Amino acid sequence: MKLAYKLTLAFIAGTCLILSVNAVRRVQREIALFERYVSREHRVIGRTVGAAAVAVWRTEGRERAMQVIRDADQQHEIQIRWLDGSDADATVALSSGQSSSTLLTGPHGERFRKTVVPVRVDAGHAGAIELSESLDEEGRYIEKTILDTFATTVTLVAVCGILAMALGVWLVGRPMRRLVEKARRVGEGDFNTPLELRQHDELGVLATEMNAMCERLVVATDRADAEAEARIATLEQLRHADRLTTVGKLASGIAHELGTPLNVVSGRARMIITGEAEGQEVVESAEVIVSASRRMTTIIRQLLDFARRRGPQKAEEDVHDVVRRALSLVGHLMEKRGVSLELVGGTALAEIDTTQIEQVVTNLVVNGAQAMVSGGLLTVVVRQVSAIAPPDVDRVGARRQWVAIAVVDQGRGIPAEDLSHIFEPFYTTKGVGEGTGLGLSVAYGIVQEHGGFITVESQTRGTTFTVHLPTGGQS
Ligand SMILES: Nc1ncnc2c1ncn2[C@@H]1O[C@H](COP(=O)(O)OP(=O)(O)OP(=O)(O)O)[C@@H](O)[C@H]1O
Ligand SMILES: [Mg+2]
Repeated sequence: MKLAYKLTLAFIAGTCLILSVNAVRRVQREIALFERYVSREHRVIGRTVGAAAVAVWRTEGRERAMQVIRDADQQHEIQIRWLDGSDADATVALSSGQSSSTLLTGPHGERFRKTVVPVRVDAGHAGAIELSESLDEEGRYIEKTILDTFATTVTLVAVCGILAMALGVWLVGRPMRRLVEKARRVGEGDFNTPLELRQHDELGVLATEMNAMCERLVVATDRADAEAEARIATLEQLRHADRLTTVGKLASGIAHELGTPLNVVSGRARMIITGEAEGQEVVESAEVIVSASRRMTTIIRQLLDFARRRGPQKAEEDVHDVVRRALSLVGHLMEKRGVSLELVGGTALAEIDTTQIEQVVTNLVVNGAQAMVSGGLLTVVVRQVSAIAPPDVDRVGARRQWVAIAVVDQGRGIPAEDLSHIFEPFYTTKGVGEGTGLGLSVAYGIVQEHGGFITVESQTRGTTFTVHLPTGGQS
């Protein structure tokens, strides 16, 4: 029920209660007043008629006195009659010497008041005057009072109710509705369009406070946005720095990889210049030069793509393909360290940013190779798994499908005391110049942004890092 209606109902109930109590008390008071008035009137009339009858009795005899009483009876609406001294009511009145007044109810429920006034004529004669009057008029009066009160109450309730309702809707309902709309807009993130309530009561103060709150929220949101932007920019810088470190690590391998096609190009070019190659051989040499340059372009483009700074771009990609590209980039480094690479698994689709996932795989594979000081086999497995994500990724803890990239090395393993720190930025156990400690923290951040998670299992020999990415399907 709306607030204005509730207030109006409470107001009407209160008014009705007060008016009813007041009416009951007024009727009671007026009945008492009426009855006091009637009995006093009876006594006055009784005494007057009694005195007149006594005077006539003494001078003109009993019969004339009775006539006086009958005349008085005729003149008033009150019934007046003489009671002989032998009458029970007269005896009581004469013995007490006081007039008595009682309220009586007739056989048909009619109410009337009877008053007996003692009268002493002389030593031998005494009696009483009895006055009785119907109280029908009193009943009618009470009825009329009740009706009047009822009519007044209904009119008052109607007028006050309409007024209270109109004021309630105008002063409470309408501003409340606007406050609710404003609160809803704030909930939806709209902090603009201030609420203008032109009233100087509590609701007006609430509206002013809400507007002030919105202004503060705008400032806080702007600050939070700026901080988030700065954080993203720093994160991007860190990731870029990490990519450049990896490029540095791969540089000597790449240079070596470029050496062979470069030798081929210069050898073939020399053959053409010196005329060693003739006719069809010139064409063949030129083709060899073109293919060697293509190979060099591919290697350099791959490296540049990897190092290039760019915003996140997610699309459904084959994770297996991305892993294969990352492995081709680090191939020579692995060779140099006596590590052979093996890629297991097939197509597995997921919504990913290929460059970022390439960076993750490269970091894990380089770590694995660095841990395998005397070489060995490093296996990368891409497959679909069913797993429950840790609570910080999925609070519900439901089992679901993931594309898992497991990097399995045969290195020295990670000691238990290091395990809880390896994902911290700048945590490294490598010597100065060998590691920045960024690799795993960058990988962790990227995977988290993809809605996935990384697990690590390590024994004294061999470590397995498994990247879980939300699956996009499989073929
Ligand atoms: N496959 C692994 N085997 C053994 N230890 C590992 C392995 N991967 C990571 N670690 C440990 O975790 C630490 C942190 O790794 P992380 O990749 O974050 O930094 P880093 O390799 O030391 O430096 P960076 O990658 O920046 O050159 C490493 O120093 C190493 O001690
Ligand atoms: Mg590393």
